[in-house]
Amino acid sequence: MNNVFVSTHPLVKHKLTLLRSVKTEHKKFRELIRELGILLGYEATADLDLDDVPVETPLATAPGHHLREEIGLVPILRAGLGMVDGFHEMLPGAQVWHLGLYRDEKTLRPVSYYNKLPVEPTVQVCLILDPMLATGGSATAAIDVLKEWGVKRIKFVGLIAAPEGLSVVQAAHPDVPIHLAAIDEHLNERGFIVPGLGDAGDRQFGTA
Ligand code: PRP
Repeated sequence: MNNVFVSTHPLVKHKLTLLRSVKTEHKKFRELIRELGILLGYEATADLDLDDVPVETPLATAPGHHLREEIGLVPILRAGLGMVDGFHEMLPGAQVWHLGLYRDEKTLRPVSYYNKLPVEPTVQVCLILDPMLATGGSATAAIDVLKEWGVKRIKFVGLIAAPEGLSVVQAAHPDVPIHLAAIDEHLNERGFIVPGLGDAGDRQFGTA
């Protein structure tokens, strides 16, 4: 699939397996989401632009580099929250802009309930964070919002996607790269990814 990057890193596979397990408790689940955020963040940021900025070492001047663009981390509430910490550790200068979207249980359509983006964009690159891409409605809606905001470059970083939802997002936004830890088999009749990991929000926050 064009513009879809599924990590082949052994640490990602190992941690994703622990994350999926029904035996993994909330605390461990949150730790794993954070760690997977660091690992996928490393891969998803591999093509960020740099400026050449020489640096003085104690001995001499060395060639150096600074990130050129302002980065925005955009977690989709609630489940995306757990991925912010790992990304933020690697990108301490990033801005964090939350988007509140929940999925209507009957229609499975995303409903927006929180968006405090200022009128003008304050970043050039946005990394949307949400562990689950199921029907693709939430990811598509988040990308719509950021494009309307005026962000030039957008990436989606998730953990698990269903093939059905991936096709939806790609059809709507073929220009947006999607970084994942795995693509699963299918969606069930309730819109849950199978085999998946259950409800990522509930498992992080103990609300199941
Ligand atoms: C889940 C998940 C995604 C969305 C994916 O959130 O975290 O945001 O569903 O589904 P979609 O691809 O079909 O839109 P949910 O609505 O359960 O809210 P929560 O994170 O607050 O639990």
